[in-house]
Amino acid sequence: MLNANTLAIAYLISAALFILGLKGLTSPSTARRGNYLAMLGMALAIVATLFNPVVQNYSLIFTGLAIGAVIGIVVALKIDMKAMPQLVAAFHSLVGLTAVLVAIGTFTEHATSGLVDRIMLVELGVGSFIGAITFTGSLIAFGKLQGILSGNPVVFKGQHLLNLVLGLVALALVIQFSQNSGLTTLILITVIALALGFLLIIPIGGADMPVVISMLNSYSGWAAAATGFTLQNNALIVTGALVGFSGAILSFIMCRAMNRSFISVILGGFGGSDDEETTAMQAANQGVKSAAVEDLAFMIENANRLIIVPGYGMAVAQAQHALKELTDILNEKEIEVKFAIHPVAGRMPGHMNVLLAESDIPYDQVVEMEEINPEFSTTDVALVVGANDVTNPAAKTDKSSPIYGMPILDVEKAKYVFVIKRSMRPGYSGIENLLYFRDNCSMVFGDAKEVCEALVAELKNS
Ligand code: TAP
Repeated sequence: MLNANTLAIAYLISAALFILGLKGLTSPSTARRGNYLAMLGMALAIVATLFNPVVQNYSLIFTGLAIGAVIGIVVALKIDMKAMPQLVAAFHSLVGLTAVLVAIGTFTEHATSGLVDRIMLVELGVGSFIGAITFTGSLIAFGKLQGILSGNPVVFKGQHLLNLVLGLVALALVIQFSQNSGLTTLILITVIALALGFLLIIPIGGADMPVVISMLNSYSGWAAAATGFTLQNNALIVTGALVGFSGAILSFIMCRAMNRSFISVILGGFGGSDDEETTAMQAANQGVKSAAVEDLAFMIENANRLIIVPGYGMAVAQAQHALKELTDILNEKEIEVKFAIHPVAGRMPGHMNVLLAESDIPYDQVVEMEEINPEFSTTDVALVVGANDVTNPAAKTDKSSPIYGMPILDVEKAKYVFVIKRSMRPGYSGIENLLYFRDNCSMVFGDAKEVCEALVAELKNS
């Protein structure tokens, strides 16, 4: 068994490892090391906790660890990269549920032995409140991302007022609970928070879902921190705070990337449109040009500079390896190739960076939106591979569009634009892309991987 000082030192080291892990995750080149450091920190925290003198029942803990490990390993091996956001949402819901169960369990245990003081009651009330919001909120996010529930915002009259009233009632109940310490009050707080989690997430939809994921990430951190206070476990408090703050910072960055105010996203109602006919829809009635792979190969071969814009479709098709081959061929032909990364391209933060890194595309060819945007106007060909919303000029011109105001990649400024996708179906936000109707834009219809492989073959033969 470890004494209190040794335990504190072990937790301090694991906290330092978590911080170094987060630092590593800030760049693709150090992300793997960051993950290893964080895993080491977590292993140290778990082992130290097992040697904490308060731990008495090992059989229950090891049974839980074994079940969790089996589920974790199976899910990690089977999960499709594209389903990562919903998996993260599902994991967040478990953190929320744990916080609720720990709060209620601790209360019932301590209440019978009479060992509850006011501070502890506030911790329990707040812990259960945050945990319950995280639980139902994450379940709704999971349902939306998995396509079980409609991705469109669900709004109704008086929604914000209802949320406000529920929030205030829950606050009053937490105060009351800290004084009367009744189990019924704690359960009432939990039920209200479960409803609030549901109500807070249903109005968010479409292109604003990335913010929801990082926001729930933040909530799950606070739920874990609350559990840490309840269990008086410093490692959990520190880890929860790290997740809470990093999730909040990520939400802020996402909001900035999408030109949304944090409050407007939380209050919801964005991401879908009730307008019968937007400018984009009117444009849909005009024709679009399509091109064959041979035309695309010819244009690329005669270009000096090419910018590739990957999006969710590249991930679906797993076209990154074909793109790597394309890049190698073009480098040999001395054609400059860069990849333009929009902060919310794909379905999770850094989705494109991870896939491009996986296929060994050099980091210096992968350029973030703000840096690459001025370069489109001097580029011969912009090749959009399974990206849609992040290239839609409606974000700049169509005030009726639900993505109006979101910064986009300025692909339309390139001399020629080619878009590889399978159909004229819209992207995640469900709206028409005005880019496809521009004079300099041609569609190359087909699966991204197949088209890119055909393009590589065509360039090899030329
Ligand atoms: P989207 O706008 O979702 O468009 C992806 C396009 O890929 C679709 O239009 C689809 O058209 C095409 N596609 C699908 N499978 C394909 C395949 N096998 N081959 C070729 N094309 C294929 O993607 P985006 O431009 O990357 O934008 C991301 C969107 O997701 C944004 O609206 C963003 O807000 C949202 N979102 C992002 C995140 C994060 S954190 N990144 C999380 C949740 C939501 P076809 O069906 O016609 O092929």
